[in-house]
Amino acid sequence: MDKPRTVAFTVLQAVSKDDAYANLTLPNQLGAAGLTGRDAALATELSYGCLRASGTLDEVLRRCSTRPLPDIEIAVLNLLRLGAYQLLRTRIPTHAAVATTVDLARSTGNTRAAGFVNAVLRKVAARDFDTWCAEITEGASALGQLAVRHSHPGWIVGAFTDVLGDDPAEIEAALSADDARPETHLVAWPGRIERDELVAQSGGTPGPYSPYAVRLTEGGEPAALPAIKGRQAGVQDEGSQLCALALAALPLSGPDERWLDLCAGPGGKAALLAALATDRGAHLTAQELHPHRAELITRATEGWDVDVRVGDARKLQPDERGYDRVLLDAPCTGLGALRRRPEARWRRTPDDLADLVPLQDELLAAALRLVRPGGVVAYVTCSPHLAETEDHITRALQADDTLELLDARPAFNTVCGLPDSATVQLWPHRHGTDAMFFAALRRGTPASSWAH
Ligand SMILES: C[S@@+](CC[C@H](N)C(=O)[O-])C[C@H]1O[C@@H](n2cnc3c(N)ncnc32)[C@H](O)[C@@H]1O
Repeated sequence: MDKPRTVAFTVLQAVSKDDAYANLTLPNQLGAAGLTGRDAALATELSYGCLRASGTLDEVLRRCSTRPLPDIEIAVLNLLRLGAYQLLRTRIPTHAAVATTVDLARSTGNTRAAGFVNAVLRKVAARDFDTWCAEITEGASALGQLAVRHSHPGWIVGAFTDVLGDDPAEIEAALSADDARPETHLVAWPGRIERDELVAQSGGTPGPYSPYAVRLTEGGEPAALPAIKGRQAGVQDEGSQLCALALAALPLSGPDERWLDLCAGPGGKAALLAALATDRGAHLTAQELHPHRAELITRATEGWDVDVRVGDARKLQPDERGYDRVLLDAPCTGLGALRRRPEARWRRTPDDLADLVPLQDELLAAALRLVRPGGVVAYVTCSPHLAETEDHITRALQADDTLELLDARPAFNTVCGLPDSATVQLWPHRHGTDAMFFAALRRGTPASSWAH
């Protein structure tokens, strides 16, 4: 049995049929099949690569199949995708790519489709990737061509150009970064381990922006590190670290004792905030809607004094004192972390915004209710889509003229060359981080409210 290809096929099936997440399914499948080293690398390349490229692969397959794709059984379509990916996006020789896929059809109980798979893949193999892209994008704009070549849905390319502009070179860099294998970033929790020690232990390099970040270029096994096992460090994208650090760095007059993480599960930012709050004599409350995710916060913040609460943040009512610093890391489309979730670009649709945008609006209103007058709210998303970022800030400022938009850039002072804007948008292709958005709002004090 061809274990790497069988594992890749199993992952594709789990994603298509059970809505599974590839980055959670693959490690289990690799473990179950006992795959390591080059075999594990091949299974990873085939499953992740195929999921990322599936939009463009389907365009090719549509042109090569005698049957419309929606009429093809999902297992057979996934076999075709796997074969087409090997033919067009790897150096695997044509005969091997076709023969192993036909064998896989047989070994996975799809023997009746073996002839069909063979016939379609032979047509795919008749042209190379560039020739197929040229045919699919005939007459398309430069950006349309990039969308196909880098296999991104048009609406996501549109969302990126809305922020980055339409310079094809920059858009190409942004799309390529979503296809590159992401580095793993670690956070050395302050008070528990020095960053230098984590660098020495992990063989990584210091992150360029967060004083607590370590980047692992070789992938590696972070879970096996003593610092991770001993809960001195965690796995966390450097951009996420910067957002937690920026909230803590925003200028604030008056007390700085009560911090709130309003949408805290699974607790990555809460852990770093807890470490910073402890150092400063402040106390963190972490709110989360889903009990199982609240459990994860409890685990992530073990050893720090954090109050983990379960419930809908939109229903929280302010107490007399209010919070001094509030983080709203809102549920979002996750378009800023496509490199970490191979299937996400094809699973997400613009319809998701119809649910998420009103939820984000309501959560931001809650955050602004819960912060004390003069206190600060950080609105954060892991998406650069304007409907999930700037649009909320514009609406909030229009709704309350006592609200002040703070310049967030000083809180990101290690990041050079940020554009001229009070809000901060990070990017994988510029910063090597997820595309985190950060905006800082200060609630008007009673005096300033009165003045208005
Ligand atoms: C983007 S994630 C937060 C990630 C987290 N800050 C971290 O760094 O690990 C958003 C979280 O908000 C939670 N959530 C969604 N709706 C909520 C609501 N109405 N009230 C509280 N939490 C909510 C989700 O379950 C999810 O865990």
